[in-house]
Amino acid sequence: MTLGSHLSPLARSHIQQSDVVFAALSDAIVERWLEHMHPDVRSLQPYYGDGKSKSRAATYREWVEVMMAEVRAGKRVCAVFYGHPGVFAWSPHEVIRVARAEGFHAHMEPGISAEDCLYADLGIDPGRFGCQHYEASQLLFYETPINPGACLVLWQVGLVGDRSMKRFSTGPEYRQVLVDVLSRDYPPDHEVIIYRGATLPIEQPRIRHVPLRDLPATDVSAEETVVLLPASPLRANLALRDRLAELDRAMS
Ligand SMILES: C[S@@+](CC[C@H](N)C(=O)[O-])C[C@H]1O[C@@H](n2cnc3c(N)ncnc32)[C@H](O)[C@@H]1O
Repeated sequence: MTLGSHLSPLARSHIQQSDVVFAALSDAIVERWLEHMHPDVRSLQPYYGDGKSKSRAATYREWVEVMMAEVRAGKRVCAVFYGHPGVFAWSPHEVIRVARAEGFHAHMEPGISAEDCLYADLGIDPGRFGCQHYEASQLLFYETPINPGACLVLWQVGLVGDRSMKRFSTGPEYRQVLVDVLSRDYPPDHEVIIYRGATLPIEQPRIRHVPLRDLPATDVSAEETVVLLPASPLRANLALRDRLAELDRAMS
């Protein structure tokens, strides 16, 4: 996630020992940094095209194909994705599935995700109240019960509601639909945290607080994640506590 500090020694070693490195990174500067580690770094960014007419789903399928072409040619291939390669990312899981199905050895090395950074920067422990993670569009496309007693982390809010898979941002009208959905479980003045973790060591995390009702009018970039802290306290389950007390007595 952050240039320089978030690459594990094992991940670095995989990069250096491969024949070809593919890169889907957060920042062109991070790509330049990777090029210092390996002479053959191939950016996956150009496959997005002009970003207007091409579906991201097509781009992600192409990524799998270009990576697999090198694997099938007998090369040792390493693909570097920013954050954790397996978190809210389709191609890394898919290319591993395809490679294994074809009899190749494939392995995913975990990375430091935006999720990890937000726990540190926002001081949230997901174990305290529980924590739900959703791609924001999932709340619009599918019936998705929310537990307002736990934290709620929403990914890709910047393009919430995009059914075309062609846009890189949607607008206030789309965020209003999201707010309408969230308003079933949260009051309009519930605080929303809009978070951007640092991708360069010279940066600080950007943390903005807005009431839920103002989310439509607040720009959310493709690199931001939205967090809602619990709106209701944990409720004691007295029946189960009694049952456990009985068990404790029976066991002692
Ligand atoms: C396709 S997902 C990739 C996530 C990435 N694999 C990870 O582990 O962080 C893109 C989403 O990650 C989140 N994200 C990406 N960069 C971020 C950053 N610097 N700070 C906070 N969230 C970020 C945003 O929710 C964004 O819409």
